[in-house]
Amino acid sequence: MSFEPGDREQVEEIVGSVRRAALDQPRQEYSLAAVDPSGLLVAFARLAVDTVHPRQNSGQIGFAVRADQWGKGIGGQVVNLLCRLAFDDMGLYRVWGARSPVNESSARVMGRAGMIEEGVIRGHIRVGDGYRDSVVHSILLPEWKTRTAA
Ligand SMILES: CC(C)(COP(=O)(O)OP(=O)(O)OC[C@H]1O[C@@H](n2cnc3c(N)ncnc32)[C@H](O)[C@@H]1OP(=O)(O)O)[C@@H](O)C(=O)NCCC(=O)NCCS
Repeated sequence: MSFEPGDREQVEEIVGSVRRAALDQPRQEYSLAAVDPSGLLVAFARLAVDTVHPRQNSGQIGFAVRADQWGKGIGGQVVNLLCRLAFDDMGLYRVWGARSPVNESSARVMGRAGMIEEGVIRGHIRVGDGYRDSVVHSILLPEWKTRTAA
C-alpha cells in the first residue's frame, strides 16, 4: 500500500469522511465493509466514480482484505462485487484499478476478475520522499457482460 497504518484518531477521521461521502447527492463514492457470516470485518472495498471529465462513465476500485484472511478467495469475491455494483447497478462503462508494480496478489485478483493490464502510470503515487509507478488494470462493460453471460 502507499500509506502507513493510521492510529485510532486518523482512522476515525477516515470513517467520518466515508460516512459523509455516502450522503452526497449524487453519490460518487462507495466505501463498503465486507463481513463474514460471523460478522467479522474481513475486507474493505471502494468504488469511486471518476468525475474529472464530464463525458467519463467510469470508476476506480480499491480493496483490502484483512491480512489473516488472505488467500481464501475473498479478494476475488470483493472485486466481483465491486464490478457488479459498477456495471449492473450503476451502469458504468469502465472499471479500473491501480496497483503497485510489486503487488502480485492484486495483479492476480484483478486478472482473475477479467481486468486487463493496460499500462503503467509513471510517478503516480507519492510514497515517503519519492513517487511510485502504478500498473493499471481495467474491464469494460461489454467484457463484463460476456463474462457474466457465460
Ligand atoms: C491483494 C489482496 C486484496 C488479495 O486478497 P486475497 O483475499 O488474498 O485474494 P484471493 O485469495 O482472492 O487471491 C489472492 C491471489 O494472489 C496470489 N498470491 C498471494 N500471494 C502472492 C504473492 N506473494 N505473489 C504472487 N501471487 C500471490 C494467490 O495465489 C491468489 O491467486 P490465485 O488464486 O490466482 O492463485 C490482499 O492481499 C490485500 O488486502 N493486500 C493489501 C491491500 C492491497 O494490496 N490491495 C490492493 C491494492 S491495488
